[in-house]
Amino acid sequence: MMNPQLDPMTLSRETVNRKALFLRACRCEPVERVPVWIMRQAGRYLPEYRAIRQKHNFLEVCKTPELAIEVSLQPHRILGVDAVIVFSDILIPAGAMGLPFELSDKGPVIESPLRTAAQIRELSSFDPEEETGFLMKTIRGLVRELGPNVPVLGFAAAPWTLACYMIEGHGKDGFPAAKTMLYSDPSVFRDLLERIARATARYLRAQIDAGAAAVQLFDTWVGELTLDQYREFALPATQLLIEEIGAGDTPVILYTKASSHLLAAAAESGANVLSVDWRVDLATVRELVGPRIALQGNVDPCALLGPEEGVRQAARDAVESTGGIGHILNLGHGILQQTPVENARAFVQAGQAAAVIDKVRMEGAR
Ligand code: CP3
Repeated sequence: MMNPQLDPMTLSRETVNRKALFLRACRCEPVERVPVWIMRQAGRYLPEYRAIRQKHNFLEVCKTPELAIEVSLQPHRILGVDAVIVFSDILIPAGAMGLPFELSDKGPVIESPLRTAAQIRELSSFDPEEETGFLMKTIRGLVRELGPNVPVLGFAAAPWTLACYMIEGHGKDGFPAAKTMLYSDPSVFRDLLERIARATARYLRAQIDAGAAAVQLFDTWVGELTLDQYREFALPATQLLIEEIGAGDTPVILYTKASSHLLAAAAESGANVLSVDWRVDLATVRELVGPRIALQGNVDPCALLGPEEGVRQAARDAVESTGGIGHILNLGHGILQQTPVENARAFVQAGQAAAVIDKVRMEGAR
């Protein structure tokens, strides 16, 4: 069902305070519609992004605030998304901790991955303004460009997912080298997660201080762990990280993928919002985690490869499954490179126009 007051043209004229809307959704407060953004919204499916990448390599874009600001703004301008995530990568802190990396076509490659306790002890707990000042500069620039009514999102990897890349050196099915360390040297592995957690907390704190309205932790590879391993390793490190940020009122969003076996535990992380993939039903997750944690997601990125009406339906179905309260509409993982731009726009607009029904209040009134 369309919400007649919210046609996309009205929205694009900034009649809505998108930041206030986003924060209310994170806090499970009443909203007139769901906020919508897309993981990996700045990227290669946009011709405007590809034009910039033809002239500059990926890390150059990340480290040059004028370029990073431009590509961060593109999806807001082109799709009308409600939140602007700063353009960067989850590997940036690895470089700052002393593990330089490059980006190949297949993803990040770390020159000398972590394999020993001695290497781990040498990792630096870096000063975010010194070592990653470009990111803070980009966030400040975005806040200046967008003004007070559009939320800028900061982000980082969760400890387990960053450890996967630091140990493995690159993406690899199942991350066997990282798991080898977990099985053969659990205390060294725990030490690594704790170092990442403390460094990342300072890094996210700096992003909040620079003006980020919320921050997201990406735990993309956490689905590789059993529930016991999650509780023993990844969860305590994530809890430590979130506690150490001292975010106050600033929401923390935790993204986990392929994690239906972990979601009840993830709800104990201290995150205000759980971002989930398409494998789970949002209404079921709501039952599992209760009414106080907001949900983000969870349309299958492949749904955006099909016909436009299907895209719109998928967006409406997702909103219907939560009623729209305590829900930030997003995909269940990053948008795919081959996605037609019109479909990305249709997803955003259909989500913004979807009717919100406060199921909790309705039940309370009965
Ligand atoms: O969401 C956004 O638009 C903000 C920017 C952002 C990027 N990477 C830019 C990027 C964010 C939030 C990320 C997160 C990220 N990076 C994750 C977690 C989320 C996820 O998708 O699982 C992971 C695992 C990475 C590591 C990474 N970076 C990989 C595996 C790759 C290559 C594969 C791919 O999908 O492109 C990257 C490169 C990367 N990061 C690109 C972009 C736009 C493509 C680089 C290019 O222009 O060539």
